Amino acid sequence: MTADLIDGKEFAASVRAKVAEHVATLKEVHGLTPGLAVVLVGEDPASQVYVRNKGKQTIECGMNSYEHKLSADTTQEDLLALLDQLNADPAVHGILVQLPLPGHLNEDLVINRIDPAKDVDGFHISNVGLLATGQKAMVPCTPLGCLMMLRDRHGSLSGMNAVVVGRSNIVGKPMGQLLLRDSCTVTIAHSRTKNIEEICKQADILVAAVGRPQMITGDWVKPGATVIDVGINRIDKPEGGTRLVGDVDFDSAAAVAGAITPVPGGVGPMTIACLLANTLTACCRANDLPEPEGLTA
Ligand code: GUN
Repeated sequence: MTADLIDGKEFAASVRAKVAEHVATLKEVHGLTPGLAVVLVGEDPASQVYVRNKGKQTIECGMNSYEHKLSADTTQEDLLALLDQLNADPAVHGILVQLPLPGHLNEDLVINRIDPAKDVDGFHISNVGLLATGQKAMVPCTPLGCLMMLRDRHGSLSGMNAVVVGRSNIVGKPMGQLLLRDSCTVTIAHSRTKNIEEICKQADILVAAVGRPQMITGDWVKPGATVIDVGINRIDKPEGGTRLVGDVDFDSAAAVAGAITPVPGGVGPMTIACLLANTLTACCRANDLPEPEGLTA
């Protein structure tokens, strides 16, 4: 391996420490405690683990955590009524509705009911538009985490060729917008892209967010490029059992890249750290206080 390893676990711990420091100051100087409400509908086991981790880390950095666990047969009306209540609650600065929702609920309608100022996921249509037009938005957590790691490695990203593989609303599209805002030349590639390998090979920054295990191999990577792997895929091991891999074939890519994030321990831990950063930012904005430096896009 020739690439430098970008340690997301360590980076996320440093982001959480910065958040905790700001939270302590907010309490001391302004008597304010940021609050994050997480809404979970149903009993999806993976979602339950995420929500537990979110709650734990929220409390660890000194914020208030409010968990609302609703049964799988909750009606849309009841869920919207809860969001109205959280929107009106001054102790709640951030609201996250854990996705996916059970099939009978309309995700777009639910997400767009959240007050955009409290939308710490950055999924509300207003925040999507604000980001796309270069205005002050709440930015989705995973792309924000990727951006922080890229800025940390490169300082300015201006003029770099960035290729994002994947066009999801949660990662690919907002990642492209953020890189464009930092003056990269951005290509968003996807399953229908022609000559995808050649396009990836032009990238100084390559972000993989397609959800296909180990799709991007070393021969797709420009020597010295920075490779950010957002994928989390579980695959069978030849000897039995399973293991987590990214969208990048780590070993072959790491032999060519200048820097690379591992899976697990790369982008993953940054997502919750950025959720906490967004909650702090939302609290500062709600109270007309300066935003925490280095924790926003
Ligand atoms: N489910 C998996 N990841 C996420 C996320 O980042 N936000 C929400 N709301 N749900 C998720």
